Amino acid sequence: MMNTLRPLRLFQLPVASTRSSSWWAGVPMGPPDAILGVTEAFKKDTNPKKINLGVGAYRDDQGKPYVLPTVKIAEERVIKKNLDKEYAGITGVPEFFKAAINLALGEGNPWTSSGLNATVQGISGTGSLRIGGAFLRRFFPGNKDIYLPIPTWGNHIPLFKDSGLNVKTYRYYEPKTCGFDFQGALEDIRKIPENSIILLHACAHNPTGVDPKPEQWAEISKLIKQKKLFPFFDMAYQGFASGDMDRDAAAVRLFLKDGHQIGLAQSFAKNMGLYGERVGAFSFICSSKEEADKVMSQLKIVIRPLYSNPPVHGARIAAELLNDSSLRGQWLAEVKGMADRVISMRNQLKDNLKKEGSSRNWSHITDQIGMFCFTGMKPEQVEKLMKEHSVYLTKDGRIAIVGITTKNVDYLAHAIHQVTK
Ligand SMILES: Cc1ncc(COP(=O)(O)O)c(C=O)c1O
Repeated sequence: MMNTLRPLRLFQLPVASTRSSSWWAGVPMGPPDAILGVTEAFKKDTNPKKINLGVGAYRDDQGKPYVLPTVKIAEERVIKKNLDKEYAGITGVPEFFKAAINLALGEGNPWTSSGLNATVQGISGTGSLRIGGAFLRRFFPGNKDIYLPIPTWGNHIPLFKDSGLNVKTYRYYEPKTCGFDFQGALEDIRKIPENSIILLHACAHNPTGVDPKPEQWAEISKLIKQKKLFPFFDMAYQGFASGDMDRDAAAVRLFLKDGHQIGLAQSFAKNMGLYGERVGAFSFICSSKEEADKVMSQLKIVIRPLYSNPPVHGARIAAELLNDSSLRGQWLAEVKGMADRVISMRNQLKDNLKKEGSSRNWSHITDQIGMFCFTGMKPEQVEKLMKEHSVYLTKDGRIAIVGITTKNVDYLAHAIHQVTK
């Protein structure tokens, strides 16, 4: 007998998606993202004095997201050009990525002038790191081991694992001093097998805010050369650390002067406030133009099956900013303004802790640099800060200095003192 087909009612799920026969029945629930979890808890809190110091996105002194005035001007100019929406090439918008690498290495630098760079536009810093990871997995002639500092930006670990590299670590941070563990780093780097990859934060190390001093960078560079390691720089905060683009790129340029070939991921999320536009670049600096051309051809082959070609809008804004000298000058002043606000908040927080009567040494608040401060607070103290004072931060004690304002710094210092005294 023939089955009579009954029409499906709108709310009736097709049989294939019932639990027992679903393709995804074996997928376990993943843990929530550590940082987004902090934001969720913050949103639920009804205390009018609550502060969110979990997220690494710049806020102005009113605690509001900040669109840089020069970014607005550049965007208006891009819109007025009435450009079409055709695909970019696989490597992105050339006016953008050429200007991006010159910002990192300095105008008129010998490396790009001689065509030694293979540079492509990437999907902000994360996507650019991922291009580097995929290329290294395919072509790095060494052992595919990448050494990351402890601690490092949380996403580095899954990012490089998913790229197919073996993730290993070296010492970086000294909890006792809340500073750089220079000797520990040197000892660990000395033990890394030759022909491995080492990841370095170019400036404003995330999450610790602790950077090596220039003379320490010099020694690290020498050791990495001796050990025949490949330095892969992550530069997510150029300009944001000191307010000066050249100063923040000093480590990258030093390594090149010392004769290293390097990998370099750049992000324009923070220094242009283009977070959601996903503007970044990835480069290898090679030993000859011929080599750079070959590397470039393979970078295209890596990118094509990943996402074909990158989005154009944000890159056009960044190109407008970087290539117009007067707009660029204004932008540099705005970046300096953001960096200075961060530095002033560090000073005020430290001063207010002293005024509260804290006898602890808080000098690391002003010694550290960039968006974050690794306060040295213990998980129990962080928990208390959230529960009793509505101050939200990640469990490792990291606070986003960019979320502090002249209006909440007193309250914050008081709360920190209450949980640490
Ligand atoms: C060290 C580091 N690298 C890379 C990134 C990538 O950021 P984005 O993909 O937003 O450019 C970040 C962002 O927080 C970071 O802190």
